[in-house]
Amino acid sequence: MSGETSHLHLDGIPSDRLSQVQKYLEPFHLSLEKLQEISARLKKDMIRGLGKHTHNKAAVKMLPTFVRATPDGTESGDFLALDLGGTNFRVLHVRVVEEEQKVLKMDSQICAIPQEIMLGTGQQLFDHIAACLGDFLDAQNLKGQTLPLGFTFSFPCEQKEIDKSILIRWTKGFNCSGVEGKDVVKLLKEAIQRRGDYDIGSVAMVNDTVGTMMSCGYRDQSCEIGMIIGTGTNACYMEEMKNVKRVEGEDGRMCINTEWGGFGDDGSLSDILTEFDVQVDKMSINPGVHTFEKMISGMYLGEIVRLLLVKLTEDKLLFNGQTSEALRTPGKFQTKFISEIEEKDNGLENGKKILTELGLKWDLVDVRVVRLVCDNISSRSARLCGAALATIANRIRTNHGLDHLKTTVGVDGTVYRKHPNFSEELQATVRLLAPECSITFLVSEDGSGKGAAMVTAVAQRLVQKYLK
Ligand code: GLC
Repeated sequence: MSGETSHLHLDGIPSDRLSQVQKYLEPFHLSLEKLQEISARLKKDMIRGLGKHTHNKAAVKMLPTFVRATPDGTESGDFLALDLGGTNFRVLHVRVVEEEQKVLKMDSQICAIPQEIMLGTGQQLFDHIAACLGDFLDAQNLKGQTLPLGFTFSFPCEQKEIDKSILIRWTKGFNCSGVEGKDVVKLLKEAIQRRGDYDIGSVAMVNDTVGTMMSCGYRDQSCEIGMIIGTGTNACYMEEMKNVKRVEGEDGRMCINTEWGGFGDDGSLSDILTEFDVQVDKMSINPGVHTFEKMISGMYLGEIVRLLLVKLTEDKLLFNGQTSEALRTPGKFQTKFISEIEEKDNGLENGKKILTELGLKWDLVDVRVVRLVCDNISSRSARLCGAALATIANRIRTNHGLDHLKTTVGVDGTVYRKHPNFSEELQATVRLLAPECSITFLVSEDGSGKGAAMVTAVAQRLVQKYLK
């Protein structure tokens, strides 16, 4: 790729040390040709995921969402929203105001989900969710009302209808027993019934990517892609119904949740996996699953860096060969450190602080090497995401038979928001791989919350239209 290493911080590292370090970093460099190849593989996998007979074995699941329309600006009403699967679990009260074309967050509450619950039984999880919702309704004086609810549930689900959604498998940090293969809406409703102190109206199930697309769609009606680069990574987009072979009907469009995190689960990315990726996968709670996500998202980036730093130290290329207890501990090098260390002006100072807190004895060259490692890992992540997004944009362009596509992507997620040059690098890659597409990137304002309400509102608008 042109300017492949121009953004990298190579200054101040003696050349012999630099060349030794580069040997470890080399496998993380992806040329433009490689990225094009990866994009071509994803394109094939997306077609397999959509196909009636190829879907079952496809690594990229391409799940129908039963969201058939983006907002048209006439939606309105009061809604509840639940958001599970990102950094926090949240409950929200959202108002959609047609006259102002605005989605207002009336109030919201964060509820912690303790690790025991994340790894406990499904019943415990849904009882906990129902309890949080109950407390919120109490506090907001909403218990007497039966409001429609949008449930942002950011895991791969086989959706049968907008309110019937079967969990295929847990990803990220969750692993509650007895939920995979079950209808999540039913589990939520049963938990609410067990309490018996409040009720909810119709439910719409939403992946966070869909919420993100929909929340941007109220502001910009050409928004037809949603993308998340946070704890996990994923994207959705509006696909032509005639290509969605697993759902009846040929007319119009439907939003497809690609679940691109699963790209590579059939071994198709083995040529670019490094020994560090293999190790991260082995130590995760779901080995073999979500290969692409593990190279990209916030849950794993810090760990990849940590493993590299340990290796470089063992090879005496860092910290005089001395690791620390913290550096040897999985999870101790947090992904947010990468963003802090790569900050333009304060990066080195931040790096010094972080390394000291990790109990390491560093000199200035060490700090620079650490920054170079962070750079390489976040760069690879941004480029892989860029290649994947380019694949989707190219597909939409071809679907529409256009020479040139102008479109908008709604984006969210801590990695995208917080990293100093992630978005820049991602966008540069998309421009190279999808030169016939002009893409506007809109950072979503609370897509998982407001977007879920938006999906519920659009679903209601459509129901009302059909009833008329
Ligand atoms: C994981 C989930 C996916 C979600 C993404 C971002 O990849 O499987 O459903 O959209 O994380 O949160």
